[in-house]
Amino acid sequence: MKHNVLVVGGGGREHAIAYALAKSPQVGKLYCIPGNAGIAELAECRPDIKATDLDKIVEFVKAHEDIELTVVAPDDPLAMGLVDRLESEGKRAFGPRANAAIIEASKVFSKNLMRKYSIPTAEYQTFSCYDEAAKYIETCPVPTVIKADGLALGKGVIIAQNREEARAGLKEIMLDKAFGSAGANVVIEEFLTGFEVSVLAFSDGKTVIPMASSQDHKRAHDGDTGLNTGGMGTFSPQDKYTPDMAKRAMETVFVPTVRALEKEGRPFKGVLYFGLMITPSGDIKVLEYNARFGDPEAQVILPRLKNDLFDVFNACIDGTLDKITLEWDERAAVCVVAASGGYPLKYEKGKKITFGDIDKDVIVFHAGTAICPDCGETVTSGGRVLGVTALGKTLSEAKAKAYANIKKISFEGMFYRSDICKNH
Ligand code: AMP
Ligand code: GLY
Repeated sequence: MKHNVLVVGGGGREHAIAYALAKSPQVGKLYCIPGNAGIAELAECRPDIKATDLDKIVEFVKAHEDIELTVVAPDDPLAMGLVDRLESEGKRAFGPRANAAIIEASKVFSKNLMRKYSIPTAEYQTFSCYDEAAKYIETCPVPTVIKADGLALGKGVIIAQNREEARAGLKEIMLDKAFGSAGANVVIEEFLTGFEVSVLAFSDGKTVIPMASSQDHKRAHDGDTGLNTGGMGTFSPQDKYTPDMAKRAMETVFVPTVRALEKEGRPFKGVLYFGLMITPSGDIKVLEYNARFGDPEAQVILPRLKNDLFDVFNACIDGTLDKITLEWDERAAVCVVAASGGYPLKYEKGKKITFGDIDKDVIVFHAGTAICPDCGETVTSGGRVLGVTALGKTLSEAKAKAYANIKKISFEGMFYRSDICKNH
């Protein structure tokens, strides 16, 4: 029997989830709220409903009795309790409840959790009072890192190279409220050096299984310059992350985090994303937690996953993840994001996209795209527009293929980084 599934979200990550679910012989019809032009080729989309409109989504699921599973992919509806709402209606949903999604939604919560359970992370202080924070940055070591407590589209982190930048950053977050109420509290933490790796893991509340590693490129422009974005490109695996590091991360970070949440009465069922820094001395420290698949991490990880994603989602919900072994395509994957001119600041929408002759084995994941209601063409509708993912025997082969294909795509104002996975 086939099972119908709803995916909540409308970015490249949700396209990658829909793409993986569409491959499952167990999955029947796919729905997506709101979806985008690419997802519309796999799923019935509802562009008129926002991913944060919990009432409408719950209403939609109740009205469509054929939907057996709802996958909640973005951070906002998770933090707002969409999974809780669906469960209270007797519906199956994949993703953490609000009391576990808080591990991403509040950096004060996550830092205090790590301190309480001795999970390695940067030293820090938290502040709810601007004057006290302002006093602290006059004496703390610099560079220093100032983080808005709440959700800020991956942009609420300021790396201050000196005291002047720290003063400006703190003012921006706490007084000018650049991230709204997300900046009512701040974490000010030690600046760490080393290399970053993202490890996403499935968890059923008890068992935790890491996925293949990956690395994001968060700055808008080449050479890690420009503003922070949601992510301009990814590659998987991050080959500097050795099996020994993976083993230590499992023992010191992944298992302790899932145990800590369980002990706190907040069992985590879903995808737990560990943003790690491997310091020059080889220590593993947590930079951040997310309560979901990364975007564009999902666009390099899911195409490498050989398991049926529908089975893995169900195992997380049912607490049977210990019966699952993840299997990975040996090939490497690289995703390069095409963005609208001006992103992550102001950009225009409604630009017609021309795709060219994309190689058959290359996947173009849509993010901010829509079908123009007047002309029926695919047009831009967001900051990050597309993610071009290619697989290859090596990272270097995958990268060459991703770039050869993104060059075939065009829309007015399009830009992309030319140094994704640069050292391969
Ligand atoms: P976050 O949203 O907390 O992951 O921060 C976004 C980015 O800021 C990370 O991917 C890192 O590149 C950088 N970052 C965050 N915290 C630190 C830190 N303590 N030291 C150095 N870089 C950091
Ligand atoms: N690409 C980073 C994130 O999804 O948080």
